[in-house]
Amino acid sequence: MTDEPLVLGIETSCDETGVGIVRGHTLLADAVASSVDEHARFGGVVPEVASRAHLEAMVPTIERACETAGIALYDVDAIAVTSGPGLAGALLVGVAAAKSLALSLGKPLYGVNHLAAHVAVDQLEHGPLPEPCLALLVSGGHSSLLRITDVTGVIDPMGATIDDAAGEAFDKVARLLGLPFPGGPHIDREAASGSSVAIDFPRGLTSRRDLERHRFDFSFSGLKTSVARWVEARERSGEPVPVADVAASFQEAVCDVLVRKALDAASSEGIEDLLIGGGVAANSRLRAMAEERATALGIRVRVPRPGLCTDNGAMVAALGSSIVARGRPPSSYDLPADSSLPVTSVLAG
Ligand code: KG4
Ligand code: ZN
Repeated sequence: MTDEPLVLGIETSCDETGVGIVRGHTLLADAVASSVDEHARFGGVVPEVASRAHLEAMVPTIERACETAGIALYDVDAIAVTSGPGLAGALLVGVAAAKSLALSLGKPLYGVNHLAAHVAVDQLEHGPLPEPCLALLVSGGHSSLLRITDVTGVIDPMGATIDDAAGEAFDKVARLLGLPFPGGPHIDREAASGSSVAIDFPRGLTSRRDLERHRFDFSFSGLKTSVARWVEARERSGEPVPVADVAASFQEAVCDVLVRKALDAASSEGIEDLLIGGGVAANSRLRAMAEERATALGIRVRVPRPGLCTDNGAMVAALGSSIVARGRPPSSYDLPADSSLPVTSVLAG
């Protein structure tokens, strides 16, 4: 195998069935089938519905990816799959599919960490990762600050949310405002015509006392409650809720804390490169604020384009490709799905 391996990556940790194909760090195909519309009326992802949708979408999505990449399945050098963290039933579908492919094609199998894959994907757009770098990972299920020494094996968590994830906060606040699920993109859009200083919402875990114990941790549940109280008070008084202003002020509070803590973490480690990944990294205000404040500190910011921030198969293929190139041994063919795989386990058994 060369250091430019042809890797097929499968992602099924939540509601996106993703199949990506890369050669080295060149993206050849990124096929995604989403079941998001099936979950919208429940206001959140329903695990059983997601698993069934993965099952139905798997083979067509693999076929679509191969067709786009112009390859046949037996051309690939390795199969990579998200083995965790994520929804157990959803992960199982991807892991079972990856095992079947690897066994029938006689190719090595790599069970990889979803969070590390959110970091590795940036290499498809901006080239090799500077090492070390600081990663701010913000999605529907996770909000973490990670020190990345080597994305294929050495990741040290510096902080994480102690309650809701950033994306979860976006989704819950969107629901309060009557916006559809998933709420992040809708808040982003509404906020564009609102005022970010209209309402002074709280910045979680930023008081001097909180910083002593939780300098690099996040908390968004107090913010969500504060938005709910504000909206309820408006409704009780019979006044219309200024959706755009609430969205902009809420978004400003989330981004302010994320960027402040990420830059503090980078500075404290003497790291000059900040990478932002995960679904919330698609947020336009987060991208602009990070860029602006980081530049003032001499820190460079890398954010993949929005389509690579949300869940996809290319990120799994990208991490798989880096792992193969580093010569790490493959996972065993009885690789389990692990819904709570820690971020320190980049490559699973
Ligand atoms: O990474 P992802 O696709 O799935 C998980 O691993 O969770 O992230 C999905 C999350 C959702 O909560 C969604 O509302 C949020 O990312 N999101 C956004 C934006 N686009 C997606 N949040 C804020 N602004 C956006 N533009
Ligand atoms: Zn994700």
